[in-house]
Amino acid sequence: MNPNNPSLITIAIDGYSSSGKSSMARHLAKTIGYRYIDSGAMYRAVALHALRNGMISHADNSVDADRLIAALPEIAIDFEVTGDTQSTLLNGENVETEIRAMAVSQCVSPVAAIPQVRHALVAMQQKMGESKGIVMDGRDIGTTVFPDAEMKVFVRASAQTRAQRRLSEMIEKGIATTFEEVLANVVSRDHI
Ligand code: DC
Repeated sequence: MNPNNPSLITIAIDGYSSSGKSSMARHLAKTIGYRYIDSGAMYRAVALHALRNGMISHADNSVDADRLIAALPEIAIDFEVTGDTQSTLLNGENVETEIRAMAVSQCVSPVAAIPQVRHALVAMQQKMGESKGIVMDGRDIGTTVFPDAEMKVFVRASAQTRAQRRLSEMIEKGIATTFEEVLANVVSRDHI
């Protein structure tokens, strides 16, 4: 509980990929004046640090886990809000654009699979949530990070709806693909 404002709660949002959970979480936080934490952005920031420091193999995107684990104490992640936009800070530098790039998307899964990385980020997320009044989204937020969250939301949508959503995002970014290809990827990610 936050002794200065006992009415503040923690809201944990999980859901299927491309279900719109991040947009929903961001919008909700803005509407009720809470802080929004994009936990995926934190994994992306760690992946960017690994990429910049030569810890990712160019050949197969595998991670030098030992080096990354040793570097974890040097990695500070925070968020900065300017007007309507929220940016991710890696050691004080705004990396919001860079963490969304394909190079990071391609190596973030193996980075997020390293138990020590998860452990460090979960601890950081729990610290960010100490004063409550936050909306956090991500796959383990309602289970591992804030198992006692007062409100937990799981966002669902059909595979077709999610594929359409993702296709629109990709077209906007100029990435060539088809609905069938994206739908197959959505179904396969659900399975994994
Ligand atoms: O939601 P996203 O694509 O920005 O997430 C980036 C990566 O981090 C993706 O591989 C899922 C992973 N992730 C995670 O393991 N745990 C979270 N709480 C959030 C994201």
